[in-house]
Amino acid sequence: MQRVVARRFGPPQEVLQCEVASPPALAPQDVIVRMRASPINPSDLITVGGAYRHRVPLPFVPGFDGVGVVEEMGPAAAGVRLGQRVLPLGAAGGWQTLKALPAEWCVPVPDDLTDEQAATAYVNPLTARLMLQRLAPEPDQLVGVNAANSAIGRMLLRLLHRAGARAVAVVRSARARALLQDEPAAEIVLQGQALPPLAGGFDAVGGADGDAMARAVAAGGTLLHYGLLSGVPLPADQGRVQLFPLRAWVHAVSRPELHAAMAQVFQDIRTGMLGTAVEARYAFGDVQAALARHASPDRRGKVLFSAPE
Ligand SMILES: NC(=O)c1ccc[n+]([C@@H]2O[C@H](COP(=O)([O-])OP(=O)(O)OC[C@H]3O[C@@H](n4cnc5c(N)ncnc54)[C@H](OP(=O)(O)O)[C@@H]3O)[C@@H](O)[C@H]2O)c1
Repeated sequence: MQRVVARRFGPPQEVLQCEVASPPALAPQDVIVRMRASPINPSDLITVGGAYRHRVPLPFVPGFDGVGVVEEMGPAAAGVRLGQRVLPLGAAGGWQTLKALPAEWCVPVPDDLTDEQAATAYVNPLTARLMLQRLAPEPDQLVGVNAANSAIGRMLLRLLHRAGARAVAVVRSARARALLQDEPAAEIVLQGQALPPLAGGFDAVGGADGDAMARAVAAGGTLLHYGLLSGVPLPADQGRVQLFPLRAWVHAVSRPELHAAMAQVFQDIRTGMLGTAVEARYAFGDVQAALARHASPDRRGKVLFSAPE
């Protein structure tokens, strides 16, 4: 089997390499999933960079998202069947041919979803859905979304529209503004421009951009801070900021709650509400080319690692 491995923390292009490895051992309650597709998300690269070094032992295989097929089951593994397509959640490891994990962390995938839809069903769609529930905007309220051209930014714009709220989309370039024309934003603002008073906001950028949005949120409103794309922490808390880590939610809820939330996500993926554009697919052996494509300023969707058909 092949796997993309980080043996030390550092810039992904420098530390990630594809290795040939022995198949994983099968513990009694585990399954082995043959991965079919797994995208590159910012959270994967942040982890490679060492942001979570206190809880990520080296070497490690990145990839929090992805879909595969159950290929082997330990004698005590339950809840899935051989040959079933599943999302193998709970820990990184999607960027390899075979991923071993406890069967209880597998979420079965409905047959009508494509591999691309399933591979991008977890990290962004579930986060967007949960954050919208947390913010609970009222109809006609103005809500800020920065990095609005990102995969999750677009989902938030659509969910806000469905909720009857009005999204103020913040982007960092005229190109991103042009690309957002098809999404339901009430207003598109360039980074650094003044924001209107907001009832709430979603910040994936941090730094000055996140701070500007926090200051635009009216007293009593909430800014959900869920990403650090600028690499710069949010300045001192304005009293309106709440963090949103998907990982904490997923590890805190019961398995039926997780499955119920994913069932709703799958339904919203069918309609396109939580759909993700895919830019390109690469084999694990082409990790450097995949990373370069991910970092390209022209990228318009996710870059996936995928198994040959
Ligand atoms: N807290 C959680 O649990 C959680 C869950 C899901 C996602 N996230 C976070 O959500 C963010 C977006 O993820 P994604 O998968 O949707 O990303 P993505 O589709 O790969 O898109 C990345 C986006 O980031 C924008 N960007 C990069 N650097 C930026 C900067 N310094 N200032 C403003 N925009 C910048 C890019 O803008 P251009 O289009 O202009 O190039 C692009 O639109 C990431 O920070 C990720 O970690 C967090």
